Amino acid sequence: MRLVLLGAPGSGKGTQAQRMQARHSVPQVSTGDLLREAVAAGTQLGRAAQLVMQTGGLVADDIMLGIIRERLARPDAASGFILDGFPRTQAQADGLATLLQELGTPLDAVVLMEIAPEILLRRLAGRRSCRRCGRVFHVETNPPAPGERCADGRAHDLFQRPDDNEATVRQRLAVYCERTQPLIDHYARMGLLRRIDANGSLDEVEARLEAVLAPA
Ligand code: AP5
Repeated sequence: MRLVLLGAPGSGKGTQAQRMQARHSVPQVSTGDLLREAVAAGTQLGRAAQLVMQTGGLVADDIMLGIIRERLARPDAASGFILDGFPRTQAQADGLATLLQELGTPLDAVVLMEIAPEILLRRLAGRRSCRRCGRVFHVETNPPAPGERCADGRAHDLFQRPDDNEATVRQRLAVYCERTQPLIDHYARMGLLRRIDANGSLDEVEARLEAVLAPA
């Protein structure tokens, strides 16, 4: 399976990608997570990306394409991947198409996760992520189960993403409308787009996602 999950910040791309990866035996490739790892490691890329992310902008297309080229070359992506947060601009979509053509591995589908704006804001305000295992939770809708731990046996170390504050969220949504939404028509023209209602419980959204991916 070679899949792109498209949708506004907080639409549930990362959550559903994490759920899908074991079931389909393909990795979640989240450009946001890759950038946050670079920030935490203090690499040159991380230092450059940090300010852009904090202010809700987009990291430069050539940098993102380099990251994706390197990530998709790893052995675990040989039989497929779930792209979460990439592509986000027309240049990234074009670069991805070129890369996949070189590899001879075209996309199977692009799923647009459609969601009401007021729900997005609630989801982002309550999101917490585990610093150690990367799992995404929500203080109300998706807290860790009592006693639940990371794979290494330690308790989850939850934190709130610095870009989930109100001003940055507003900017991220504006950037999504301006730079990423045009990709909806792009992938519709290519016949790859599937739309799902991303409102509702985690299980409901997961079932809709699997339904649009099932062979006709
Ligand atoms: P990134 O990390 O990709 O952020 P995003 O696209 O803004 O998306 P989010 O991670 O905020 O939301 P999500 O849709 O994954 O929702 P989630 O599943 O967490 O990017 C961060 C930054 O990095 C960007 O702003 C940019 O600066 C940079 N960047 C990244 N990629 C880039 C690129 N390609 N080019 C340039 N720059 C790039 O869910 C949200 C919350 O809701 C969670 O708490 C979850 O538990 C909860 N939830 C999810 N589904 C449900 C449900 N059905 N019911 C109830 N609660 C739910």
